[in-house]
Amino acid sequence: MTRTLILQARNLRLSFGGVAAADDASLSIANGQRMAIIGPNGAGKTTFVNICTGYLKPQSGAVLFEGRDITGLAPRRIAREGIGRSFQLPQLFLDNTVMENLLMAVAAREGIWNPWVRLERHPKRGEMFELLEVIGLIDVAHRIARELPEGMRKLIDIAMALALKPRLIFMDEPTSGVSTTEKFAIMDIVVRALQHNATTAVFVEHDMDVVSRYADKVAVWSDGRISREGAPDEVLKDPYVLENVIGV
Ligand SMILES: Nc1ncnc2c1ncn2[C@@H]1O[C@H](COP(=O)(O)OP(=O)(O)O)[C@@H](O)[C@H]1O
Ligand SMILES: [Mg+2]
Repeated sequence: MTRTLILQARNLRLSFGGVAAADDASLSIANGQRMAIIGPNGAGKTTFVNICTGYLKPQSGAVLFEGRDITGLAPRRIAREGIGRSFQLPQLFLDNTVMENLLMAVAAREGIWNPWVRLERHPKRGEMFELLEVIGLIDVAHRIARELPEGMRKLIDIAMALALKPRLIFMDEPTSGVSTTEKFAIMDIVVRALQHNATTAVFVEHDMDVVSRYADKVAVWSDGRISREGAPDEVLKDPYVLENVIGV
């Protein structure tokens, strides 16, 4: 089966001083795929996500989204093109409610942020309630983000990305900072939301149980590029991966 490519990263390079965080990194992501990115700390996983979502500009190379060159566009432009992103440390408005966080994410993309238009009357409110239902946060819609546990804050951050209806989402360690038992619960909800919206996903993950359960493809990062790529059951028993990724 051949699926169309939603994203192609070609020969990305970016160095910080002497460190090549992206060193000729290339990766293709097919429409509908759920890809896990694994690899040791400092391998360049976050740098790759940052380049694809506009938070860093590569020194050379290109990122094509649905065939269009988006290299070096600003994060907001890339969000508008249809790529979402969640963060290892949730980027929330901690003193606002969950619903307000979603509406602010939407307003930020629309670029018509007007503090005088009250959020209670935002036209996307109904749509956001639907999203909160899908992502299991409907009961805390009016709670202040700061008061909620880390697992829920991770979900809010992901919901903020999904609020923009991306066709592709990058999630940087969606289950970091939560207990092992919570990881599966979070990923079950996330995957259900992805399926609901037919969103292609790439997620950085350190927990191999999460990888094998939720990814249909795995890319192994080392020294700024991909060293292995394939189906989870093959990649996770590869001797190189066992020694250098899972062993560490
Ligand atoms: N803004 C930055 N300034 C300097 N060095 C950085 C910066 N971002 C990342 N690096 C370096 O680039 C390498 C890759 O980092 P990163 O992409 O965060 O790796 P990973 O997410 O795989 O742990 C590391 O050596 C890191 O120290
Ligand atoms: Mg990282």
